[in-house]
Amino acid sequence: MIRTGRLALALLLAASVPAAAQTPPAAPETAPIQADDARMLPVLASHGMVSSQEARATRVGVEILRRGGNAVDAAVAVGFALAVTLPRAGNLGGGGFMLVHLAARDETVAIDYRETAPAAATETMFLGPDGEPDRAASTRTGKAVGVPGSVRGLAEAHRLYGSGRLSLADLIAPAERLAREGIPVESGLADSLPRAQGLLGQWPSSRAIFFSGDRPLQRGETLVQRDLAETLRAIAEGGPDAFYRGPIAARIAAAVRGAGGVMTEADLTGYRPEIREPVRGSYRGYGIVSMPPPSSGGIHLIEILNVLEGFDLAGMGAGSANALHTLAEAMKPAYADRATWLGDPARTRVPVKGLIAKPYADTLRAAIDPERARPAAAVKAGDPLPFEHTETTHFSVVDAEGNAVSNTYTLNFSYGIGLVAEGTGVLLNNEMDDFSAKPGARNAYGLVGGAANAVAPGARPLSSMTPTFVFKDGRLLLVTGSPGGSRIITTVLQVIVNVLDFRMNLAEAVAAPRIHHQWQPDVMLAEEGLSPDTLAILRSRGHSVKVGASSGSANSVMWVDGLLAGASDPRQRGTLAEGY
Ligand code: GLY
Repeated sequence: MIRTGRLALALLLAASVPAAAQTPPAAPETAPIQADDARMLPVLASHGMVSSQEARATRVGVEILRRGGNAVDAAVAVGFALAVTLPRAGNLGGGGFMLVHLAARDETVAIDYRETAPAAATETMFLGPDGEPDRAASTRTGKAVGVPGSVRGLAEAHRLYGSGRLSLADLIAPAERLAREGIPVESGLADSLPRAQGLLGQWPSSRAIFFSGDRPLQRGETLVQRDLAETLRAIAEGGPDAFYRGPIAARIAAAVRGAGGVMTEADLTGYRPEIREPVRGSYRGYGIVSMPPPSSGGIHLIEILNVLEGFDLAGMGAGSANALHTLAEAMKPAYADRATWLGDPARTRVPVKGLIAKPYADTLRAAIDPERARPAAAVKAGDPLPFEHTETTHFSVVDAEGNAVSNTYTLNFSYGIGLVAEGTGVLLNNEMDDFSAKPGARNAYGLVGGAANAVAPGARPLSSMTPTFVFKDGRLLLVTGSPGGSRIITTVLQVIVNVLDFRMNLAEAVAAPRIHHQWQPDVMLAEEGLSPDTLAILRSRGHSVKVGASSGSANSVMWVDGLLAGASDPRQRGTLAEGY
């Protein structure tokens, strides 16, 4: 198992790095892409750092930082680049959440650019004739497509929080070039295309881009996305309106309706991102700042951390049966609460303060048996109201001024519904599956949803995305987040616990095997890498442990002794943390 001595080694290496030069060093002409092996030491840099799930996109971000862009400029450029280089999750046709820290103002803001339900959406639209959820309708047809938020979200981030030194067109140019010139099919792209053969292959517009003849593009071939390049050029020239009005919006709406959906051009024209107050908590003296509803991520991250604060995790030891049992038992009630209380704050009152109150966590902690797993049926959503006083790829970027971005965005499933809107190059999401088709029904992640997360016109579906900052003494320490559907929250949780409790260096914290329990189904998912005797002890305590599922891609950045440490997640091929 991973040992704390690695942190000391990382600090030693950090200390031996020369002091920051005044002038950023020139970019090496042919810097090698980092090997796809498990990387147990973070990458170190002094000026800026980008950690993303795809190496070319990381390098786009680093180049923007070198040109004087701030972390937000770089994040926006990475966001557009990933739409080209990581088409299964990076996107123009999906949505997400961005957390921005502005060092000079000592301010953190949350940008909610989650998709919305079209105006013609109805509460029962995902129920079949038998009154049961029609999973195919909510994941594979035009009905599954939420009104995309990414283009307006990224453009708004640039407008409000960019450095002002680079235009939106400057930030989109690298993505347009990658789409027009093409990228080699390798790493994660080569892995994911064959898996998406059925999904992409059913749509001629998608086959035309991602297939060669009757099969998906293979390793060594080139993915060229000319229509996407044209769409990016139009946005660069005309701003986000070029996407949300006119011919591109018309094509997207037509593609969705042609696939059985109900989206109109007016839905696209009316889309607006929301600037929100982040949700804030603390853990062992560290400040935790994360995403508020309509993501459940921040609330349940803080809720679980509050429960864990009453246990000596460090004393139990990383990867020990005691620590994993405690983590799982703390996760269960949070997911039970999620199923009952969480939804779009515009439509339902989410008891945020109660859910993240320390005394509420005391009640949840008191119900944990340190020796025995509780069956899911024995765990119910709690009553946070008395504690209420008033009221799918992730990347992390930090710049030389200390500004930071933690961004998670998605098409929901890998490649969404697999449909490219003809003539636009834009892959469309299936985010509508994140609504609950009816109270108590499960979505594709097995997450149970309640009335608070019902489909409604214009509503935002509940998310688990958890872009997060951790502060120490008011100074930003860690930037993290992850994809992974329902496992996002527990992935972010374990990165934080690994750093703060188990004193792992960032690369170890990101790479260490993770577990996940989401209350229902009543199963503890465990990644490969835990010892057989640990698994045996967990089973003897009543946990139903299923080994094998890989969890998340927590591309993160952290400050270590005044330097920036970057770690990309070794679970996915082609990830890269790089700084300068
Ligand atoms: N689509 C996954 C999530 O937002 O949680």
